Amino acid sequence: MNYNLNQASDKKAAKKLPLVVSLRKLITIISGERRNLIIAFTAIFLNAGLSLLGPYLVGYTIDTHVQAKDYNGLLMFSAILLGMYVIAFVVNYAQMKMMGGIGQRMLFSLRNSVFNKLQELPLDFFNQNKAGDLISRINNDTDKVNQFFSQSLMRFIGSLITMGGAGIILLIINLPLGLAALTPALFLWIFTKVVSPWIRRKNEASLKSLGYLSAEIQESLANFRVVITFNRRDYFMKRFNDANTENYKKSVHAGIANNTLTPVYTFGSNIGQLVVLSLGIWLIIKGYFSIGLLISFLAYISNFYNPLRQMAALWASFQQALAAWDRISHLLSFENNLSIVEDQNQHINTSYIHFREVSFSYPNGKEVLHKVSFELERGKTYAFVGPTGGGKTTTASLIARLYDATKGEILLDGKDIRSYDSCGRAKKIGFILQEPILFTGTVRDNILYGNPECSDLTNDQLEDALKEAKISSLLRRFEKGLDTPVQITGDGISLGQKQLIAFMRAILRKPELLILDEATANIDTVTEQQLEAILKNLPDSTTRVIIAHRLNTIENADQIFFVNSGEIIDAGSFEEALDLIMHGKTES
Ligand SMILES: Nc1ncnc2c1ncn2[C@@H]1O[C@H](COP(=O)(O)OP(=O)(O)OP(=O)(O)O)[C@@H](O)[C@H]1O
Ligand SMILES: [Mg+2]
Repeated sequence: MNYNLNQASDKKAAKKLPLVVSLRKLITIISGERRNLIIAFTAIFLNAGLSLLGPYLVGYTIDTHVQAKDYNGLLMFSAILLGMYVIAFVVNYAQMKMMGGIGQRMLFSLRNSVFNKLQELPLDFFNQNKAGDLISRINNDTDKVNQFFSQSLMRFIGSLITMGGAGIILLIINLPLGLAALTPALFLWIFTKVVSPWIRRKNEASLKSLGYLSAEIQESLANFRVVITFNRRDYFMKRFNDANTENYKKSVHAGIANNTLTPVYTFGSNIGQLVVLSLGIWLIIKGYFSIGLLISFLAYISNFYNPLRQMAALWASFQQALAAWDRISHLLSFENNLSIVEDQNQHINTSYIHFREVSFSYPNGKEVLHKVSFELERGKTYAFVGPTGGGKTTTASLIARLYDATKGEILLDGKDIRSYDSCGRAKKIGFILQEPILFTGTVRDNILYGNPECSDLTNDQLEDALKEAKISSLLRRFEKGLDTPVQITGDGISLGQKQLIAFMRAILRKPELLILDEATANIDTVTEQQLEAILKNLPDSTTRVIIAHRLNTIENADQIFFVNSGEIIDAGSFEEALDLIMHGKTES
C-alpha cells in the first residue's frame, strides 16, 4: 500500500475538496465544543446586531434631533450609543477569550488524534515517510488550523454576518443605490473565487517545504555521530541550506499570495464608497434623500466594506488552515492495511509456523521472497543463514507480521497469522531486532517495555523473575543493575548492552517463538556462551529462530535454512550449510 504522504498529496492537491466539504470537515474537529460554540455564536450575532443598529440610530438622531436642535434628545442618543459600544466591547472580549480556549483544546485533541493515528499505522508507513515531516505535521500544521480557529474563525463569521446585514439594509433603504454600492463586492467575490485555489496551493507548498526542512534537521540530528566522524558537516550544512532556502522561497510566495487580496479589497471598497457618495449627493440634490439617511447609508457602506477588507486577511488565513488541514486529514485518512481477518479455513497442520507459497516484495521494490514454503515445529531451533540482503530479516518480519505476505499464506500455531490481534500475536512472539531499539529511561524501563504484567513488580521482585527465567546474570553487565540509565541520543550504553536488554525484554515475556536477528553479533564470546545456555534452558515448547552470520551460533540448530535470491531452502547438515554459505549454491 502507498503510505507516502508527499507523493500522494501531489495528486490530491490537483483535485481540491469543495469549500463546503472542507468547512464541514473542519467543524467536525470542534464538535465536542457545541455549548461553547453556541455561546460564542450568540455573542457574534449580538455584536453584529449592535454594530448594525449604530448607523441607523446616528442617521435618525441627525434627522430628528440635530436638525431640530434638540440637544437633550441628542445627549440621550449619545448615551444609548455609548452603552451599546460598551456592551459590544464586553461581548467581543468574552468571545475572543472563549475562542482562544476552544482553539487550544482543539489543538490538543487534533494533535492527540494525529499521534494516535501514528500509533495505529504499520511499519510500512514509517518506512515511506520521514520522521521530521511527521513531526512538522503534528506541530506546525495543527498549529495553522488552530490559529484560524482561535483567532480568525469568529471574526470571519462575525464579518460575514455584519456584511450580510449591512448589505440587506442598504438594499432596503434604497434599492438602486444599494445595488450600485454592492456591485464592486460582486467583482471582489469573483476575483476571490478565482485566486483562492492559487493561494491555497502556495500555502500548501510552503507547508510541504517546512515538512521537508524539518525532515532534514531530524536526519542530521539523528546521524550526528556519522556527520562528525566523517567530518561531513559541510555536506549536511549544504543540504540544510538547500532545504532552508527552498522553504524561504516557498514561504515568501505564500506570503505574497496571502497578501494579494487586501489591496484589491481596499480598492473595491473605495470604489463602492465613491459610487454612493456621488450618487447619494445627486439624490439629495434631487430631493429623494435626506442628509441623515445619506450618513446612515455611508455608515452601512463602511459596515459592509470594512469587514470585507478584513475578510481579505481572514480569507488568506482560512486558505492556509485548509492547506494545513489537507495535510493532516490525509494522514488521518490512512488505515492500517494489516487488518484482522477471520480465519475461514480449517487447518489440520500442527507445525507452529507454516509458510505456504509465500511471496513478498516491499512497496516499489523487487520481490524479496518468491513462493517460499517451509514449516517450523514447536520446541525446535532453526537457523536462517544467507548472504547480506538475502531476505532473512524480511522473513523474520513476516513471521512477526510486521508486514503481510504479498501472496500466499502464513499460519501461526495452526491459524492464519492475520486472524490474531496485535496483542495476541505479540504475546506469542519475541523478536530481538537486528538493531535493538531502546527508549530513554533505565534498564528496568526498557526490560519491562511492552510487558504490563510485570510493570508493577519492585526491583527485587523483578530480579527474582529474571532469576527464574535464568537471565539475571546478564544484569551484571550493567554498572547500576536495573537502575542503569539508558540514553538514546548519547553514548553511555554499548551496542552489546543494548542487545542484552532486548534479549531480557524478549525472554521475560515467555514467548512461544523467539526470533533472534543477529542478536549476538556485538556480544563477547563469554556472554554469547551465557546467552546460548539461556536459550537452551528455555521451556521445551519454545520454538527458536536464529539468524546469524557467525556460524558457531547455529551449530546446535535442528534445521538450517538458506535464504537467498527469493528462495528459502533446507540447507541440510551443518557442513552442507557451510558449503552453501561459502559457495552460495546447493550440492544437488
Ligand atoms: N524497508 C525496506 N524497504 C524496501 N526494501 C527493503 C526494506 N528492507 C529490506 N529491503 C530489501 O529487501 C532485501 C532483503 O533485505 P533483508 O533485510 O531481509 O536482508 P537480510 O538477509 O536480513 O540481510 P542482512 O544479513 O544484511 O541483515 C534487500 O534487497 C533489501 O534491500
Ligand atoms: Mg537482516
